[in-house]
Amino acid sequence: MGGVGERSTGHDGIPGFVFRGRHFDFAFSPFFLIMVGRRGDGSSDMLKLDEIHCGDCIELLTQAKAEGLKVDLVFADPPFNIGYEYDTYRDNKDYDDYVAWTDRWIAACRGVLADHGSFYIAIGDEFAAEIRIAARKADLHLRNWIIWHYTFGQSTKQKFARAHTHIFYFVADPKNFIFNDLSVRVPSARQLIYADARANPKGKMPDDVWRYSRVCGTFKERVGWHNCQMPLKLLGRIVKASSDPGNLVLDPFSGSGTTATAAAILGRRYLGLELSENYARMARARIAETLALGHTDINDFEEGDIFEKTIPQPTRQRNHRTKTAEQMALDLEE
Ligand SMILES: C[S@@+](CC[C@H](N)C(=O)[O-])C[C@H]1O[C@@H](n2cnc3c(N)ncnc32)[C@H](O)[C@@H]1O
Repeated sequence: MGGVGERSTGHDGIPGFVFRGRHFDFAFSPFFLIMVGRRGDGSSDMLKLDEIHCGDCIELLTQAKAEGLKVDLVFADPPFNIGYEYDTYRDNKDYDDYVAWTDRWIAACRGVLADHGSFYIAIGDEFAAEIRIAARKADLHLRNWIIWHYTFGQSTKQKFARAHTHIFYFVADPKNFIFNDLSVRVPSARQLIYADARANPKGKMPDDVWRYSRVCGTFKERVGWHNCQMPLKLLGRIVKASSDPGNLVLDPFSGSGTTATAAAILGRRYLGLELSENYARMARARIAETLALGHTDINDFEEGDIFEKTIPQPTRQRNHRTKTAEQMALDLEE
């Protein structure tokens, strides 16, 4: 997607015409042409690109915004305020304090989001409605309210077992955003089962209910030092759909560095922000080790490497003829 031209009464007070590019703004006036306000790579002096920075995301982003940082995609998986054990962060704020804090970090991310940018937020049931409202206040436009339905949900005795997380997909401008649909299509039942000539050979768009296993303790993918690690494949779908190679991807709550790892594998630039120095250091090592494997697509890992499960798999062959169309499509999607 290219930039967007618009007539302007002035960019920083300059009368004329402003062309908004992905990385530069150009201002044309009757007298001169200048590049204004932004760096070629969207970076700031303070936040070196392709790095996990240790610090509070609100403070870091407020400073970086003043230096002109612009990012193309944000993926945020904040602490859910459910008393989780983290290294340094205490996940048990008062309800209203958590909501006020949510407003602040969303505003900080929004402040560095490019005009064509996309913004994904993962959140649990407890605060999903608050996120929807906070995003509206921050002038973000909802594209999808995705449900990540994970296998290996938590066991419960007195209520139904929870097996999902909400993932909101917002954009800054509903008329100007990146969405690479061909990069995330999946085979359809028409293709897989019915050999239907009407099937789109490019596959179908995934539904807004995504099925990926959580990263369980037995998975080779699991880093072992962060309890909230998200699956690389899930981040791969988001990065592929909502950014182009060379774009800048921001994760304000980097944790184990999953977003940055996915972005780096897929040829994007990244910025991870993390309160814990330990997590930041270990995430840097994780990214380096993963990149050393030399893959350029998340799916390249499937035959072993980090996705290999260390527990023995059931030996009983499943009878494919008894599978429903949906099950077969899901097998391919996962
Ligand atoms: C839910 S985890 C993110 C997990 C990550 N998506 C992954 O795949 O590993 C949230 C992370 O945010 C960090 N954190 C909490 N408050 C923060 C803040 N104000 N700024 C930056 N990071 C913060 C926590 O230390 C924790 O590692």
